[in-house]
Amino acid sequence: MGYAVITGATGGIGRAITVRLLREGWSVLLVARNSQRLTQWRQQWMTELQIRDDNRIGWLALDLQQPSSMAELQTFLCARQSSLDLVVQAAGCQHFSWLNQQTDAQLEQQLQLNLLAPLRLARMVLPLLGQNGTLVNIGSSFGEIGFPGFVPYCASKAGLAMATEALAREVGPQGPRICLLAPRATDTELNSNAVCQMNRALGNRTDTPQQVAEELMLLLTGRQTRRFIGWPEKLFVRLNRLLPSLVSRALARQWPVIYRYAHPVQSDVADVTPCLPQEETSR
Ligand SMILES: NC(=O)c1ccc[n+]([C@@H]2O[C@H](COP(=O)([O-])OP(=O)(O)OC[C@H]3O[C@@H](n4cnc5c(N)ncnc54)[C@H](OP(=O)(O)O)[C@@H]3O)[C@@H](O)[C@H]2O)c1
Repeated sequence: MGYAVITGATGGIGRAITVRLLREGWSVLLVARNSQRLTQWRQQWMTELQIRDDNRIGWLALDLQQPSSMAELQTFLCARQSSLDLVVQAAGCQHFSWLNQQTDAQLEQQLQLNLLAPLRLARMVLPLLGQNGTLVNIGSSFGEIGFPGFVPYCASKAGLAMATEALAREVGPQGPRICLLAPRATDTELNSNAVCQMNRALGNRTDTPQQVAEELMLLLTGRQTRRFIGWPEKLFVRLNRLLPSLVSRALARQWPVIYRYAHPVQSDVADVTPCLPQEETSR
């Protein structure tokens, strides 16, 4: 147990992780933009979990897309003058549509919040975490499997996965533990109605945020530093590395359904020819 910073703490996965850590006796700093939601959740958890010590749950409203937010968080953490033991980077965003329909603002938001901000934050907290600390980046199975309709999101999560691996090797055994937790579809507000409907139509399984929080606890107590959640996604992740053309063929069969939900206005997909996978060389 110790002190943990959780970004995206008011989101579906961030809330489940926060509750799980609080139940285990951790003290937490909640980070997100909306201060009203931060204080509401703080109050609810203080009451529900019967927490008497005000210092167990702190909060800081920050827009992590702003580089200046890192300095604000650093000042806050240094002023606290106690050890930092865990950082969970769960803030994130997603836009589901074909790349040619994503605006510049949507591209930037996904790359900034899902990739650039976690790198900036990791750089800032590493010296504070020390050798016994742990940094967990919340990735996604879409960081391993390029999925139509999620081009910038996949790019950001793939970048985060690679950055996590590189950083773990950079800090080595003397540095903090650097981990990646990669959920599959999870029932939160991140997923638009179109995404939820598409997942149902494709038969994709959806986890609860509580299941993701349990997986985080297994990551924290185990020896692994990368954890993918759910079958058959774990299998697809491996298959995609070894035989990407097989996964491309499977996704090509699903393409009309994905297209329909990514283009809600032009929903007549009967006329749309499925996109067949291009010849791929083994990666
Ligand atoms: N849900 C899924 O299906 C799924 C699957 C795989 C991976 N993931 C990943 O899991 C993580 C958590 O996702 P979720 O499903 O819990 O999402 P969510 O419910 O939409 O929550 C997103 C959180 O991020 C915060 N946030 C958004 N923009 C921010 C900004 N600019 N600065 C600071 N905080 C910001 C939000 O609070 P404010 O709006 O108040 O800032 C909220 O707390 C994300 O990294 C996501 O990519 C999710």
